[in-house]
Amino acid sequence: PASRPLAGKRVVITAGPTREAIDPVRYISNHSSGKMGYAIARAAERAGARVVLISGPVSLTAPDNVEVRPVQTASEMLAASEKAVAEGCDLFVATAAVADYRPENRAGDKIKKTSETMALPLVRNPDILATIAGREDAPFTVGFAAETSDVARYATDKMHRKKLNMIVANDVSVAGLGFNSDDNAVTVFWPEGQESIGPDSKQAIADRLVVLMAEQNDR
Ligand code: C5P
Repeated sequence: PASRPLAGKRVVITAGPTREAIDPVRYISNHSSGKMGYAIARAAERAGARVVLISGPVSLTAPDNVEVRPVQTASEMLAASEKAVAEGCDLFVATAAVADYRPENRAGDKIKKTSETMALPLVRNPDILATIAGREDAPFTVGFAAETSDVARYATDKMHRKKLNMIVANDVSVAGLGFNSDDNAVTVFWPEGQESIGPDSKQAIADRLVVLMAEQNDR
C-alpha cells in the first residue's frame, strides 16, 4: 500500500488546453503544455490506479497503461468528463487550462479581413471541475489554481467556492517554472492542512501529489 496507495482506485484527469473554433482556420486557446496532467496520470497509474486522461490538444505521448480520450473544446471536455465519472471514478483531477469563453458562433467559412477592427461575441464556457464537484455522486475532486498574489487566500477561496477536496496552487512567481517548463513549485491545500512541494520536476511533484490525494481520500 505505501508503494501503491491508489491500488484499485479509478482516477479521471483533465489536461492540456481547450480549443474553441472561430472559423475553419482560427481558434481561441490557452497556453498549456499538458505536462502536469500527464505527469499526474503517470504517477497515479504507477500508484495502482486505473487512469482515464481526458486531453486537449498537446504534443505529449500517452503514459503507459493510461487511457487517453482526446477532446478539443470545453464542451467536449465536459461531456467526456461526465461520461468518465458516470463509468466510475474515485478521484477527479482537473489540470486542464479550459478556455473561459468560446465564440458565440463558429463561422462556416474563413472570415475575411475587410475591416480595420472586428468584434467577436463570446459566451462563457461551463466550469468542468465545479460541475463534477457539484454532482450528487461527486468523486474526491482536486483543482489547480494559478495565482500571482495572495496565493493561499485565493486558492482556499476557490476550493470552497467550487466545493473541492483539495487545491494545488502553482507558485507562478518563481521564474522558469510552470507553463511550458519541466519544473514546478506548488502549495497544496485541503480543508485541514497544506504542504509546499518543490521546486522540483513535474514528475516528482506529481508523485508526491498522488500520495497526498490518496491519504486525504482515505480519511
Ligand atoms: O476558476 P479557475 O479557472 O481559476 O479554476 C482553475 C481550476 O478549475 C483548474 O483545476 C481547472 O482545470 C478547472 N476549470 C475547469 N473548467 C473551467 C475552468 C477551470 O475545469 N471552465
